[in-house]
Amino acid sequence: MNKKVLYTVLCALIFSFFLTLTAGSARGRNLFISKCGQCHKTGGEAEPFAPTKYASIQWERFFSRSLHNRKKDISGLFTPEELEAIERYLVNHAADSSQPEAAGLK
Ligand code: HEC
Repeated sequence: MNKKVLYTVLCALIFSFFLTLTAGSARGRNLFISKCGQCHKTGGEAEPFAPTKYASIQWERFFSRSLHNRKKDISGLFTPEELEAIERYLVNHAADSSQPEAAGLK
């Protein structure tokens, strides 16, 4: 492979990596709003909240210990992969994160 081809392939790889990253975090946000938001809404079964409700380490603990299931068992409603995407979104936008997101469920 000559240098030009190598450079093009490298750029394409880096670009697709960033695309995957941004698509991944949009997916976590969409799942959070559509699925957690089914119950967590004004007048709903539970209070609405935003990612800034907790600090990153608290969200990590919340998911790693499945703390939600002590209040209400939601294990049947989410695949492990969906929970992972939502956790990543909440951790990345937690109160102590570099991009805190106070606009959450309504
Ligand atoms: C089937 C309905 C339902 C779904 C879906 C649901 N929740 Fe809940 N959630 C509840 C109920 C009920 C409570 C307990 C009442 C309350 O604290 O408002 C609760 C409590 C919570 C609490 C407060 C826990 C505490 O210790 O104070 C958090 C945080 C939370 N849920 C996050 C989530 C997240 C994140 C999702 C999506 C992955 C989610 N919930 C999906 C019903 C639901």
